[in-house]
Amino acid sequence: MRHLITTKDLSNAEILGLFKDTEEFLDERPRSLLKGKTVTTIFFENSTRTLSSFETAAQRLDAKVLRLDVSRSSSSKGETLYDTAANLDAMGPSAIVMRHSKSGVPFKLARYVNCPVLNGGDGKHAHPTQALLDLFTIRKHFKGDIEGKTLIIVGDIKNSRVAASNIKLLTRFGIRVILVAPPHFMPTVNLPKCYNLDEGIEQAEIIMSLRTQTERHETQMYGSLKDYASDFCITKERIKDKKVIILHPGPVHRNIDISDEVLADERSLVLKQVKNGVAIRMAALKKLILEND
Ligand code: NCD
Repeated sequence: MRHLITTKDLSNAEILGLFKDTEEFLDERPRSLLKGKTVTTIFFENSTRTLSSFETAAQRLDAKVLRLDVSRSSSSKGETLYDTAANLDAMGPSAIVMRHSKSGVPFKLARYVNCPVLNGGDGKHAHPTQALLDLFTIRKHFKGDIEGKTLIIVGDIKNSRVAASNIKLLTRFGIRVILVAPPHFMPTVNLPKCYNLDEGIEQAEIIMSLRTQTERHETQMYGSLKDYASDFCITKERIKDKKVIILHPGPVHRNIDISDEVLADERSLVLKQVKNGVAIRMAALKKLILEND
């Protein structure tokens, strides 16, 4: 049984195969490739984009979506993950999409069920479909020519599962990744690091900005988000007329991560990422569900 828990679950050739389907699915036409299938979504952590993106993706392929309302689910009554999983499984879903605030929970769930599990984000660990849609967006922009391109990841890298998955995936495809953050947001991975945003921008062809993951901080790291913004917000004054593209997984803290002006600039691909995300998730659901048929 194939699952999508981290980007390592897919080979480079499989990812390029997914991108072919993704490209087709961008036409937003409904298809009946998953007619008669059911996709269960169970999100133990807040989400706007990822949940609605997966559900739109499933519906566009004609699958039925069963969203489990976690606030009413029995895990809030103390049911173990094993029992939740066994009960979910007994309903015979074709795939389960799960988000959880603890790293590793989707991986554990996958061991108990008889259908593919897709990780919609677990703790600080991984967010594979986000990294896939980011790589797809970058490749599409550069028409496939991404080898050796320089990307800076800016912000709370240490606490971000988006950064963790992107670091693994983008470097696999030959992108040069530089980490730009204050020391307390810098992870210990073996990649070039830069503590000054202007120096980072100088080298960048792609900027990936991240939200400060305040919900994961044990103590407040900056006097205020405004202090952080004065050092790390992507503003017009900083990027000037530089030829660069700007990505952000959302939700964006406006004028803290990226200024209003830059978000509206044509170099910002933030809404393209959202559009591409639905098509990527269609391709991933199609692949995992049909492979398991
Ligand atoms: C991210 C997440 O939940 O990891 N959002 C998303 O899925 N698009 C990033 C974040 O919360 O900052």
